[in-house]
Amino acid sequence: MAGLGHRELRGFLIPWAFKMGQDYQLGTHLSKRCHTIKLTKDMDVKDKVAVITGGAGGIGLATARLFLEQGVRGVAVVDFSEEGLQLAKKELTDSRVIWVQADVSVASGVQKYMKETEEAFGRLDILFLNAGVEGVVRPMVDYPEDVFDQVIAVNVKGVWLGMKYGFPLLERSGGGSVIITSSVAGLGGTPAVSAYVASKHATIGLMRTGALEGAPHKIRVNTIHPSPVDNRMMRSLEEGFAPGQGAAAKENFTKMIPLGRYGTNEDIAQLALFLASDKSSFITGATYVVDGGMKA
Ligand SMILES: NC(=O)c1ccc[n+]([C@@H]2O[C@H](COP(=O)([O-])OP(=O)(O)OC[C@H]3O[C@@H](n4cnc5c(N)ncnc54)[C@H](O)[C@@H]3O)[C@@H](O)[C@H]2O)c1
Repeated sequence: MAGLGHRELRGFLIPWAFKMGQDYQLGTHLSKRCHTIKLTKDMDVKDKVAVITGGAGGIGLATARLFLEQGVRGVAVVDFSEEGLQLAKKELTDSRVIWVQADVSVASGVQKYMKETEEAFGRLDILFLNAGVEGVVRPMVDYPEDVFDQVIAVNVKGVWLGMKYGFPLLERSGGGSVIITSSVAGLGGTPAVSAYVASKHATIGLMRTGALEGAPHKIRVNTIHPSPVDNRMMRSLEEGFAPGQGAAAKENFTKMIPLGRYGTNEDIAQLALFLASDKSSFITGATYVVDGGMKA
């Protein structure tokens, strides 16, 4: 990245010709003192505070790591799984993280993670509503009603509660970004995962409503739609679609992806970072696929 000319930034007159990753001597035009800065590839999330639900899982933890690398002030990693949180804590040792055990599908759980975030960091800028469950793989006629209810509770009500209790905090911070993890399953049908498909379609309706209600308060809301990602959830679905033949199921799924591979947790984290950052400040109410061309 390079540019020519000058621009005023926080009292400095900056020579506007630079390259990423290099050190530059900058003089203030008042004092003539020199400062060294390193221009980095940051995505403008510096000093922001993020909540990531499902934060101990594959996509959530990769996103927490990326946000921290990019200089956020703090991250609340929220997850229902005590075991998942313990493992995640060993992987990610950073004093800017708070770990919150909470169930996103009940109001008390959501109020808990919002309260602990506000107590720890005093604000909220990025709300990544990412917790989700896959349910089971069965045709509708055999699909257990209690599993249907659980999938809807986590994947739909969890998102609704997140916005219900998160909007006031974001509003007090002067606005922010809500990112909801839907799926390619939110953009079309798939046999045998009716609850999951229905839940991921429903998040688009919540996102669109949230975008309209949030806009006057500078709160942006978008959904992201990953194709299969190489992590625990896909291992579970592969086994569900082809019991005992998970590897063959993976091969079949891969054939549906023009770029010829599953996504990685980091691929999804990069999109979340963009939507969390000020680089996307004019984007709201949108659905973003990150799917290797699967929906092309
Ligand atoms: N893995 C994929 O292929 C894929 C593809 C498209 C979309 N997604 C979506 O991505 C999101 C993240 O999933 P992942 O791939 O990282 O899988 P994952 O199973 O590793 O992560 C999901 C996390 O959500 C947590 N969780 C479940 N129920 C919860 C609850 N009630 N309260 C709080 N936390 C809860 C789990 O403990 C887990 O840590 C999900 O919404 C999922 O539906 C995943």
